[in-house]
Amino acid sequence: MVCNVRLAEQQALDKARQMADQSPNDQQKQQLKQQIRDLLKQHNAVMVAHYYTDPELQALAEETGGVVADSLEMARFGKNHPADTLIVCGVRFMGETAKILSPEKRVLMPTLEATCSLDEGCEPVEFAAYCDAHPDHKVVVYANTSAAVKARADWVVTSSIALEVVEHLSDQGHKILWAPDRHLGRYVQQQTGCDMLLWQGECVVHDEFSSQALEQMKHLYPQAAVLVHPESPSSVIDMADAVGSTSQLIKAAQTLPHPQMIVATDGGIFYKMQQAAPDKELLLAPTGGNGATCRSCAHCPWMAMNNLQNLAEIFDAKNTEVFVGDALRIKAMKPLQKMLDFSVDMNIRLKGNA
Ligand code: 13P
Ligand code: SF4
Repeated sequence: MVCNVRLAEQQALDKARQMADQSPNDQQKQQLKQQIRDLLKQHNAVMVAHYYTDPELQALAEETGGVVADSLEMARFGKNHPADTLIVCGVRFMGETAKILSPEKRVLMPTLEATCSLDEGCEPVEFAAYCDAHPDHKVVVYANTSAAVKARADWVVTSSIALEVVEHLSDQGHKILWAPDRHLGRYVQQQTGCDMLLWQGECVVHDEFSSQALEQMKHLYPQAAVLVHPESPSSVIDMADAVGSTSQLIKAAQTLPHPQMIVATDGGIFYKMQQAAPDKELLLAPTGGNGATCRSCAHCPWMAMNNLQNLAEIFDAKNTEVFVGDALRIKAMKPLQKMLDFSVDMNIRLKGNA
């Protein structure tokens, strides 16, 4: 499984670099943006973009009445928006989640090749066998999974709400089978004290952050706060001043008094983080340490596959529409809806772009 994930990552890195090499010039960019604005109007479509996508796409989503958000808010926004078509700029599980929650809408993505190492590392048949072997556990899966894995779960969570959901289940006396991110699972386990079995998946981007290199960086910036996404290794989380989902990290950059922020998550977040905290200096946390080769350099290669060109071609190109079969959709909807209902009950409003 690790080999498959690494292969998928290498292919994504190659593809993202190839796309970057063919990147349009400024004039072409302006033309593409105008084309996209026109298409959105023409098709009554709205953009739903993740913080890790190219800042040009984030700006376009904002400007055209769409949203830039974390995965929980992307799901909520898409479900509640009246547009006929949702243009999901992010990775495949985000498009699938949008389709599961809004089957009556057309869901398009700039490329369906944009996957996620957590999704790739949690094969549904293998996962079902793991669940079957532990029938006394509640199955809680991270949103970064396929529809088939979600369909096998009791609950779906995103990083914004994972602690609260697991705490709630633990209070009811449940043991948890958690998948797929082992770092986030260990963090939730440590914070809640819940009895948890952990699937051993990882995000290839966050797994690269290095506590040793971060230690050295902290010496260079002694006044900086450290903000860490919980998909990072425990040694990095242990050094954090704030741990949280993308939107929670943006909030932390705004509220913490430190003049600089060392941020351990995908660098795409800087676009919205800088808007939220204009007087703070934002620094990317180091990956790999001295002499190590950085594979992703804190940029998700799958998120990087979303660009102005494939967005402008989205209505004409083949394989841009997300489909989820009815039987699977109905099964996957239940644990997703539980998360959305729970977030309303808990009054969790973590929009992050306020
Ligand atoms: P958020 O839910 O925090 O946006 O995280 C999604 C993700 O893919 C992080 O790598
Ligand atoms: Fe998946 Fe990691 Fe990319 Fe997020 S950053 S989409 S977890 S590979």
